[in-house]
Amino acid sequence: SQPVLIAPSLLAADFTRLAEEVAAIEAAGADWLHLDIMDGHFVPNISFGPAIVKALRPLTRMPFDVHLMISPADPYLAAFAEAGADLISLHPEAGPHLHRSLQTIRGLGKKAGVVLNPGTPVEAVAPVLDLLDLILVMSVNPGFGGQSFIESQVEKIAALRTMIDRSGRDIRLQVDGGVTTKTAPMCIAAGADVLVAGTAVFGAADRAAAITAIRGTAGA
Ligand code: DX5
Ligand code: ZN
Repeated sequence: SQPVLIAPSLLAADFTRLAEEVAAIEAAGADWLHLDIMDGHFVPNISFGPAIVKALRPLTRMPFDVHLMISPADPYLAAFAEAGADLISLHPEAGPHLHRSLQTIRGLGKKAGVVLNPGTPVEAVAPVLDLLDLILVMSVNPGFGGQSFIESQVEKIAALRTMIDRSGRDIRLQVDGGVTTKTAPMCIAAGADVLVAGTAVFGAADRAAAITAIRGTAGA
């Protein structure tokens, strides 16, 4: 199988030096840039909005993986598309109508993803599989970087891998939260093919070594 893709989360970057941080992780071998958008309402934290996404877009060739933790999301989908998102993921709980939101993202010409919180069952994605390019399994409760990986979510990754393979669809399976060199192997073994890592990449002295180690290709 192909090596997994690594999507460092900008939330863990030095916000006074965003341009250099993005350049550094691209040079270090990152595949996608994960952008965590928090509204202080859907999650108990506020991060940044489409203006930052737009400002960063010309600085890198990495695909922009925008993780919306905002409710409602619909009024902002066009703004993130125009800011340069390649993929936009949202939570079913953001409401009001998951299927409509995914149709809107696809209608904007972008890839669409659904995010499952630790307490959200895999069944939530079954009715919308035909609209998905990605399923994201949260392995922490959303809102903050640097939390501990919740191991009970590994079973969910495996169940979704089976669901995706049975569907025959081209859907990426991503994991986000507490991904480190210790927890990444469990995710990969369960069938994940994109790993988000904030602290484990931006907090490392050698980001290239961190990315290689999380990917599991050290010494390969
Ligand atoms: C949490 C965010 C994550 C977070 C990951 O709400 O969705 O992307 O930044 O950070 P780490 O890798 O530090 O757990
Ligand atoms: Zn995220």
